[in-house]
Amino acid sequence: MKKLADGRVEATIAVLPGDGVGPEVIGEAVRVLKAVAAARGHLFQFDEALVGGVAIDETGSPLPSGTLAACRRADAVLLGAVGGPKWGPSAPVRPEEGLLALRRELGVYANLRPVSVHPALVDASPLKPELITGVDMLVVRELTGGIYFGAKRREGDRAFDDCSYSVEEVARVVRVAARMARGRRGHLTSVDKANVLETSRLWREVTQRIVSEEFPDIHLEHQLVDSCAMLLVRRPKDFDVIVTENLFGDILTDEAAVLTGSIGMLPSASLGSGPLGLYEPIHGSAPDIAGRGIANPCGTILSAAMLLRHSLGLEAEAALVEAAVAIAVGDGIRTPDLGGTASTRELGERIVCEIAAA
Ligand code: IPM
Ligand code: MG
Repeated sequence: MKKLADGRVEATIAVLPGDGVGPEVIGEAVRVLKAVAAARGHLFQFDEALVGGVAIDETGSPLPSGTLAACRRADAVLLGAVGGPKWGPSAPVRPEEGLLALRRELGVYANLRPVSVHPALVDASPLKPELITGVDMLVVRELTGGIYFGAKRREGDRAFDDCSYSVEEVARVVRVAARMARGRRGHLTSVDKANVLETSRLWREVTQRIVSEEFPDIHLEHQLVDSCAMLLVRRPKDFDVIVTENLFGDILTDEAAVLTGSIGMLPSASLGSGPLGLYEPIHGSAPDIAGRGIANPCGTILSAAMLLRHSLGLEAEAALVEAAVAIAVGDGIRTPDLGGTASTRELGERIVCEIAAA
């Protein structure tokens, strides 16, 4: 990345559309990034590469070495989705392995998943309006450790998935979450299953120590994952920042997505120790609607906003994109998941127009 004297930025963005609705939602997010570049004079270069099922079909690998190289060369990576019925759970190589390898190889251990309810979408949620109006939380999911990456094996009629965490793996993600809490309402909820799991007892000890030694100004609370799952729908407004391990974060964020009306709205940013980040919507490849041009592009477009903020340092541009999304859905331009009839392109186009007009 190059920052020019007048504040304009030159950056390379690796674009990995992937499978299912991935290419459709990525198409709109790239149009949005191009609109931002045109409006503010930035120079973004897009470097497209294969990942997931399409990469398996083309090269035999879900993460070809050329893709990984393109990601390492880039300033940020924007990814659509991976997976689909064509490459089912019993296939010898699966698209999801490509995504997990990418997260691991890029070292992006902290996955930020903001969950907020847009006032205009309160009715799109199955939950009562008074329960969800004003919900604004950030889930920080540990992304490169835990049971996802433990040894997997079969012995006779038994299957094993090892789950382990080191002190450092917990400490570094807790630091990210605590810093985020500091910039928000100062409240951190650490979620574990310390009444049963040894990894969770370590998680709780380390979290307690890091917060009391390094973030004494943060209010820390520990919660068991089962009760957290209940409280997320019973009183979601009470949450500010949640930090949790890989598997619990995966499950809780799908649950939290229901608060916002549609999982199609939610973005994510995965960060490591440097500026390079991986940005992807939290939804999957949605094979049931793929190719029909009706997928909600907002999760990916809002992920592009997070890319502008976290990898390129363009806070004003990120806010511009977020505002454009809010205006578009507020004006009733909505895809079917939000109860509307707009196409992916129509919603994307409206967001692009808002950016150009700003
Ligand atoms: C997510 C997804 C992935 C995960 C899958 C596609 C491997 O569900 O990003 O939440 O489990 O992390
Ligand atoms: Mg998930």
